[in-house]
Amino acid sequence: MKIETIAIHAGRHTDQGTGAVTMPIHLSTTFERSAEGEYPLGFSYSRDQNPNRKALETCLAQLEGGKEALSFSSGLAVATAVMQGLERGDHIIAPDDVYWGLRKVIGGVFEKAGLETSYVDMTDEDAVRAALRPSTRLIWVETPSNPLMKVTDLRAIATLARNASSKIVTICDGTFATPVLQHPLDCGIDMVAHSTTKYISGHSDVVGGALITKFDNYLFERARKVQQYGGSVPSPFDCWLTMRGIETLPCRVRAQCDSAMRVAAFLARHPGVEAVHSVPDTHASAGLPSHDHRDARGHGFEEHQAEGVGL
Ligand SMILES: Cc1ncc(COP(=O)(O)O)c(C=O)c1O
Repeated sequence: MKIETIAIHAGRHTDQGTGAVTMPIHLSTTFERSAEGEYPLGFSYSRDQNPNRKALETCLAQLEGGKEALSFSSGLAVATAVMQGLERGDHIIAPDDVYWGLRKVIGGVFEKAGLETSYVDMTDEDAVRAALRPSTRLIWVETPSNPLMKVTDLRAIATLARNASSKIVTICDGTFATPVLQHPLDCGIDMVAHSTTKYISGHSDVVGGALITKFDNYLFERARKVQQYGGSVPSPFDCWLTMRGIETLPCRVRAQCDSAMRVAAFLARHPGVEAVHSVPDTHASAGLPSHDHRDARGHGFEEHQAEGVGL
């Protein structure tokens, strides 16, 4: 199914009570029990699950080609939930130019948790291999990275992790690429993280995050507990806004790629500009020749263009 179709249909249904084609915002915190004391529609209390959140999670899972998604109150709440699932002494490999907030989560929030972290250049496979330890439990990739726009070969990292140990979980923060341009799960990465605050919701009016998995794994299940019992959930209105943003995601990303290439090309010609950090072009025309990681094309990024699914 084309991603444009998934973006407008997944997780949505016509309201049976009114015929409304747009989902209502379900503000109810509690849901009615049946005479038998059960919750026949699957909702009991809104921290645990809510119809708007369920719709958003269904939609995000389908956009990524995953089995299941958890949505959170921010992108960093996703990272926090993942880190909470690790044990004292566990080792993390993360990108050296990762979004600064992840360093703050690991070094600040989890300072006393006894986690060990190596920050490496994820585009250098040998450096990632050299950083592996028997205690490595998580490889966190961010591609394209914020701020340097480095593009990591997702297949290579997934293979490296799998060959090293079955105990390593790989996660790709795909915030900048969105599911329109990149599907990490198809490259063998275990889970995808997003700050939905950015392109996915797309209108600078809602903060949110998501974690999507293709297969059952313990870090996803622990993150679910942090979400449901710990309570880092998005509000029904946040979910509704994010769903509305997703409807135009493929069109917006197409326009944003066009604009970005124009800006990058202009800057590349400008005598006052030393370097331009742009991702490889996702359109038929080539990316800027100055980009260092063009070889990573075809290893995750722009995969879906090749399949005719995306742009
Ligand atoms: C790549 C990336 N990941 C995660 C985050 C954190 O997301 P949030 O601001 O929704 O907590 C950001 C925020 O800028 C980001 O750029």
